[in-house]
Amino acid sequence: MGNRDNTSVKIFEYFLRLLRRLTPRHYLVRYFTISPYHYIIILLVLFLACSPALYIPTQEVAEKTGIPLESLKQGRQLYVDHCGSCHMLYLPNQFTVTKWKNEMEAMRLKITFNEQEKQLMLGYLLAGK
Ligand code: HEC
Repeated sequence: MGNRDNTSVKIFEYFLRLLRRLTPRHYLVRYFTISPYHYIIILLVLFLACSPALYIPTQEVAEKTGIPLESLKQGRQLYVDHCGSCHMLYLPNQFTVTKWKNEMEAMRLKITFNEQEKQLMLGYLLAGK
């Protein structure tokens, strides 16, 4: 019995030593250890870098499409406010013009917006194609 205890202690000590060797004092671990705080920042930067942004209306787009810049901006705001709560904010290029028009109509079953708001959102989305 005393013998078995001895063995358990030895195994325990072996693991302790192993653990100690793997603590940040070990040079390999020390050089590759980052604090949780930095880890979160790195994840955030990666996330922001990977998600393509919804375009911001410019004078150039306004002139190209003949839609007033103010309307495009309103359309973007409405779209961001109304459409991102259930699914991601789809990008203009993700769907065809027809699909956008159909889906916008279909979304009426899910949220309410009036005809003018619909035209502003569609104007913004289709101008971004
Ligand atoms: C209440 C939740 C909700 C809101 C708010 C909402 N949607 Fe949706 N949307 C859905 C669901 C659920 C689906 C998928 C199933 C379906 O089509 O019914 C969907 C599907 C879509 C699709 C098709 C996606 C695909 O891959 O085919 C588009 C485009 C879309 N929505 C655009 C919009 C726009 C634009 C708005 C704002 C006017 C909006 N959604 C607001 C719930 C919502």
